[in-house]
Amino acid sequence: MSEERTASRFALRHVKRLKAYQPGFQPRGDGWVKLNTNENPYPPSPKVEEAIRSVSGEALRLYPDPASSELRSAAARLHGLDSANVIVGNGSDDILNLLVRSFSTASDSAGFTLPSYSLYPVLCGIQGSGTIQVPFSRDIELPTSEILECGANVVFLTSPNAPTGVGFSNAALRALIGGFDGIVVVDEAYADFAKENAVELLSEFSNLVVTRTFSKSYGLAGLRVGYALASSDIVATLDRVRDSYNVNRLSQAGALAALEDQNYLDAIVGKIKRTRDYYHKELSSLGWFTYESQANFLFTEPVDRSGETGPEVARSLFEFLKSRKVLTRYFPGHALTESFLRISVGDEDQMLKVSESIEEWLKDA
Ligand SMILES: Cc1ncc(COP(=O)(O)O)c(C=O)c1O
Repeated sequence: MSEERTASRFALRHVKRLKAYQPGFQPRGDGWVKLNTNENPYPPSPKVEEAIRSVSGEALRLYPDPASSELRSAAARLHGLDSANVIVGNGSDDILNLLVRSFSTASDSAGFTLPSYSLYPVLCGIQGSGTIQVPFSRDIELPTSEILECGANVVFLTSPNAPTGVGFSNAALRALIGGFDGIVVVDEAYADFAKENAVELLSEFSNLVVTRTFSKSYGLAGLRVGYALASSDIVATLDRVRDSYNVNRLSQAGALAALEDQNYLDAIVGKIKRTRDYYHKELSSLGWFTYESQANFLFTEPVDRSGETGPEVARSLFEFLKSRKVLTRYFPGHALTESFLRISVGDEDQMLKVSESIEEWLKDA
């Protein structure tokens, strides 16, 4: 059928042009070492399953609490804030979407640094928002003056940055947020693995939003829960554009149990950080430039047997690892990422498989 005859011709022009977000490959079948979407290699706290099982079938007949009130209060307690400073979402992606909806249009642009989380431009595309890209240089230092001058109404920063893992200090963030005439979102999906986080800056800046997720450190990517911390004013704005029942009953129960088991979180995060630091040394000892990571992944620039780096080398290792059923992430679309691979930190067996496969590739490549 020609395009003029299909019903999709009624779609809005900006929607016709959209390219959907490309999530990491989700393999089927067994035997994969899945290190491509920064999931946690360890299961969540056992209290999560208990809490989910305790939700009765009868309770599922009813809609969930639209505000996720208990979870808001628990997150507020954890961070020393008031529940009016917290909003809960169906993953932090939902929160990012609410921020784009609330603070950007074609004329009020959204800014973001490049490279960073590739969902931001997709959300802006859906909303028809103007976008302003602020490039990093290879050292991934915060381009403060460029952001201050970019003219965006809302700016998204990922700290620790994805896909490099570099974390920004609160001193650097303070200089930026204080001078920025608009909303600054610090996407802290990986903050539990970092040295510092921006929560203490909330008392200083009413234009700051900090987003968090249960998908990484809490091991709950399958539940889809995230939250944002911000001034009550911003939270009230986001609540206005939120789907009424955005977080289901089982997810609210499970996330609450996870949040209340901070001892379990600390133990798992400690384990992942030790593995991350060990493999950072191992990759560096191969002579591979690897960013100092404050997240649960490593971003490394492979060097082949003849001492070459570059996009072909990175792609060759990516494909070789895939042929060994080891999934990592390759980002060919940007000069600062195309010679690197991002490897999520797995458990000890998974990381051993990565090491052995790299050794094999070095013999072959
Ligand atoms: C920087 C960043 N923010 C947000 C998310 C999404 O988190 P969630 O699973 O809570 O939607 C991710 C997931 O990979 C991420 O890397």
